[in-house]
Amino acid sequence: MLRTVRHIGGAMRGAGAEQIPVLVRTLNESKVSKNALRFFYSLGYKLDHELLRVGFAFHFQKGAQITVTVSSVNKMLKLHATDEAVPVTPGIQLVEVTAPASSENYTEVVAAVSSFCEYLAPLLHLSKPGVSTGVVPTAAAAAASLMSDGGGTTL
Ligand SMILES: *[C@@H]1O[C@H](CO)[C@@H](O)[C@H](O)[C@H]1NC(C)=O
Ligand SMILES: *[C@@H]1O[C@H](CO)[C@@H](O)[C@H](O)[C@H]1NC(C)=O
Repeated sequence: MLRTVRHIGGAMRGAGAEQIPVLVRTLNESKVSKNALRFFYSLGYKLDHELLRVGFAFHFQKGAQITVTVSSVNKMLKLHATDEAVPVTPGIQLVEVTAPASSENYTEVVAAVSSFCEYLAPLLHLSKPGVSTGVVPTAAAAAASLMSDGGGTTL
């Protein structure tokens, strides 16, 4: 079985990045067989702590290949003890809207993501990651509304 290891880079910076309503990051994917940890160790990483994300994701085509994830972040008290994970922010769910883009098509992808976010705006306070708008009580309603659309996948 092949596992996917995703290396997500820091946010693109500069005047151009400031002007667009979304965050752009580089992303590299590698396929590893069996022991992903050994792969990380060979790259020079060490296991410091683990976080477990629990939630669901939707994938659909709307001007771009959009993925919406609704998840909560859990801390693992003991290594690999997924059953004993405790929520970092109880009762709060993180909603992320992402889409893959290349340097050729990113204007188009930014437009598609922005316009989808407009649609979510009445339900959620969306922000560029790192620019906090706080927590809203409608998050649960938004999650329920997304879930009732069906077609979700469990993370
Ligand atoms: C992805 O790979 C490219 C080309 O090797 C590199 O320039 C970039 O920094 C990498 N990004 C991440 C997040 O690892
Ligand atoms: C934009 O390019 C990326 C990377 O090649 C691709 O995955 C994505 O489907 C493209 N999106 C659109 C809307 O063309």
